[in-house]
Order: sequence, then C-alpha cells, then structure tokens
Amino acid sequence: MSRIAYVNGRYVPVGARAIAIEDRGYQFADGIYEVIRVIDGKAGDLDRHLDRLERSLRELAIEPPMSRAALCAVIGETLRRNRLRHAVVYIQISRGIAPRNHIVPASGRASLVVTVRRARLPSPHEVDAGCRVIAMPDERWHRCDIKSIGLLPNLLARTKAHREGAREAWLVDDDGFVTEGSSSNAWIVDGEGRLVTRPAGTEILGGITRSVVLELARKLGIEVVERPFTLEEAKGAREAFLTSTSSLVMPVVQIDDSIVANGVPGSITRQLQAEYSRRAGLDVLSTQQDR
Ligand code: PDD
Repeated sequence: MSRIAYVNGRYVPVGARAIAIEDRGYQFADGIYEVIRVIDGKAGDLDRHLDRLERSLRELAIEPPMSRAALCAVIGETLRRNRLRHAVVYIQISRGIAPRNHIVPASGRASLVVTVRRARLPSPHEVDAGCRVIAMPDERWHRCDIKSIGLLPNLLARTKAHREGAREAWLVDDDGFVTEGSSSNAWIVDGEGRLVTRPAGTEILGGITRSVVLELARKLGIEVVERPFTLEEAKGAREAFLTSTSSLVMPVVQIDDSIVANGVPGSITRQLQAEYSRRAGLDVLSTQQDR
C-alpha cells in the first residue's frame, strides 16, 4: 500500500508531484512544522502541539490555512487512509506560492502538507542501554523557539553525530553552554541531585516532551532548576538525558569521550522515563515489533 499524504485539499500518494515550484517553503524554507506522536489512534499532547504550531505561525505572520478543528480532521483522515494506529504525524505549513522574492508577500494562501508514518520509537532495550551524544558548536539563528523548516545546521550536526556512531549532537553556544540537541532538548542531573535544563527562550525549541517532563518531575518531588549548563558540567554530571516526541526520555551515557557517571542510565532519568511512558500510553506497545 503506498503512503498517502494530504496536500492542499487533496489526498495523494506521497510520491505525487503536488507542490508548486514557487512554493516559498521549497524556495526559502519559509514555513513551520510540527511532529506529533500517535499511540493507539490517540494523538499525544495534541493541544500543546497545536498551540506551538499556531505560535510559530503567528511569529512569522503566516495565516493558518484552516481552523484547528479542520486540521484535526485532516490528521485523523490521513491516519485512517494510511491504516496506522501507532504513528508519527508530520505537519508542514509554508507561506504558500508567490514569485520568488526575498520580501515577504503581504498576503497569500498558506500551503499545508500532512504526512504520517509508522512510529519508530526507541525499544526498551535501547532505552536501557542509553545513548552517546557528541558536542558541536551551535550554528543556528537566534529564533530557535520557532519550529521553522529551515533546519540545515540541525541536519549537518545530526549527520556528523550519526557518522560518528552517536544518536544526537548537543549544540554548544559561544559561552560553552549547551543549548539543546539537533532535534531534542538536553537535560542533566547536577552534583546536588537537581534536574537541570536550559530555560525556554529564543535559543531553544520549547519541547512538548520537555514541558511534560518538567511537570512530571515536579509532581514526583524532584527538584528542578531551569538554568543553562556547560558542556563540562554535563560531562561531569550525575545523569544526563534527552527528550523529544520521537526519542521520548532517552538516557545519555556518554558525551564525546566522557562516560557520564558510571555509564548506565541514572535513577532520576529512569523514574522520569517510566512516568513519561506510562502517561504517553506506551505500555500498549509491548514488543519492539509494535514500536
Ligand atoms: N524535533 N529541539 C529541537 C531543535 C527539536 O527539533 C525538537 C523536536 C525538540 C523536542 O521537541 P518535542 O519534545 O516537542 O518533540 C527540541 C522533532 C521531533 C523533529 O524535528 O522531528
């Protein structure tokens, strides 16, 4: 069965030629996106994702192509046509079609594309083992709070990590502080046993998983500090992990050549991982095959 995408009012095979050459998303990366996890037919934290999507659009003054309710209907229909109950939904909205010009057109009709694919979430074995990250300079712009489709620095960082056998690249700002991963947020447990992550701001994407994990930590009575931490502090931390919609809560056991603590996922990380999985309904996915 070929995968079906929603493109500007039509459901078409993913391979169809359905995007105009002068779509500003294609020519300028003038657009935004969202990635939402669906488990057992239920979209996780849908409202938070759609709030963030609408915020990204507002920040770039792109008119939403349809209402929130209509977008939810399109997501549901795309899942149905692809016969997927566990999936990752990708929503992309660009400013639409206009003759190529650096000056943003005053009006226009945004383009909407929705695709879905089978969720490939980390297996319990991968989570138990944890992962390695490498550090790289953060070469992105200063509006990382907008979920822009302009991702070239992220792609280059992630590709380097992949080539070096690491799962993720942790990006480091000019002052030596970790901002976030190329497609995930970064966390440590410091020497005092406090959970530390960089405050939300323009230098990181406010992750939905991040917001949920902050709430869970506070509920569990874990002391939380939102402050920047350096790469050196991370290498000497008690625990480290990363979060995202598709990586969930993933322990980080090595940063570059430094083993974090004793090289196995720490207890706070495990506690948060278990709570997050329960809340996300991941217990229905009992085997790696299902994931
Ligand atoms: N990435 N930081 C960056 C730069 C990201 O791209 C992402 C998400 C996150 C985590 O956000 P969330 O918890 O809402 O997934 C942080 C998505 C999954 C992606 O690009 O595929």
